[in-house]
Amino acid sequence: MEFFNTKISGSGKFNPEKIMTNEDLTKMVDTSDEWIVQRTGIKERRIADLDKGEYPSGMAYYAAKDAIEKAGLEPNDIDMILFSITLPDMLFPSTASQLQDKLGITTHCACLDINAACTGWVYGLTLGNSLIQTGAYKNVLVVGTEMTSAFNNWEDRNSCILFGDGSGAVVLSRAEATEECAIVDSVLSCDSSKADTLILYKGGSKAPITHEVLNNKEQYVTMDGQVVFKNAVKTMAKHCATLLKRNNLTTNDIDWFIPHQANLRIIETTAKLLNYPMEKVICNVEKYANTSSASIPIALTEAINDGRIKRGQTLLFAAFGAGLTSGAVLIKF
Ligand code: UT7
Repeated sequence: MEFFNTKISGSGKFNPEKIMTNEDLTKMVDTSDEWIVQRTGIKERRIADLDKGEYPSGMAYYAAKDAIEKAGLEPNDIDMILFSITLPDMLFPSTASQLQDKLGITTHCACLDINAACTGWVYGLTLGNSLIQTGAYKNVLVVGTEMTSAFNNWEDRNSCILFGDGSGAVVLSRAEATEECAIVDSVLSCDSSKADTLILYKGGSKAPITHEVLNNKEQYVTMDGQVVFKNAVKTMAKHCATLLKRNNLTTNDIDWFIPHQANLRIIETTAKLLNYPMEKVICNVEKYANTSSASIPIALTEAINDGRIKRGQTLLFAAFGAGLTSGAVLIKF
């Protein structure tokens, strides 16, 4: 059986216009700009506006359109949409299928939502790569889009200061034999023993929304920040080290490290554990906060657009999130 390499042929992003600063949050919960900046590095975040159609598939439309154009393709060239989303447009049909409609794809390409929380885009990259490697598909659109403002409890200062809304997308395409691009390797994991440390308990089939749920504000996310923090650093560093070791690489071989943008301290601690210089870490958490599974494709697109990331470079992605999921992907861009 013939195997093919996968390249990122295009990428795009969308950030809602509406900015919510730390100062704005001080009017909602007992917090301060100083505390948020010191503990997270976050200065502001973007908030989706439903009146402008900025629900998940609406935001994803702009990111996906940009990625498809940059890849030099038409929407109908896409064989499959993998859509990482934590709180979808609606419970069904999939948000991927909503996006298919918005993009005007008439080929009835395959559509699938992935829920691996903040790690979802990294999961999608790994699945999309497998489909291209085996020759099943030529072009797979991998989207990470989140409307975290919809599950954020704006009265809980432990979590609401962390999140923001946005969308990022890449097109994965079959690389020509002459091209050096490849998704070289990846690791994915989930530790469900810690699932209750980052969870949205109510609103699914097991515990539907009732007046009591709404009164108790149980339709929102709850989080044990310290457990999530420690687990994030440990698993991201472990997965990155695994990828380096089994591909006979050192951190010197990595041109850019693009971690999930959750908290500057998590990013710095992970880089330190890997003995990797912060100058080569792509970081934009101060502007957008934690956009969950959209954060890596947004950061990637920004760095490609401003010329930091160039063809031929070696990139390392790492993410963590509810589940508790984690993953890392090594790329020859
Ligand atoms: O994609 C995954 C999403 N989740 C994460 O990435 C979460 C990872 N965890 C974190 O980022 C950090 O744990 C937080 C930023 C959430 C919290 O930082 P921390 O350094 O772990 O603070 P803490 O929870 O230990 O709280 C320290 C103090 C507490 O007060 P006392 O008990 O020392 O008096 C909190 O009540 O800070 C207080 N605190 C706040 N103060 C001002 C907690 N949140 C706030 C706040 N403003 N927003």
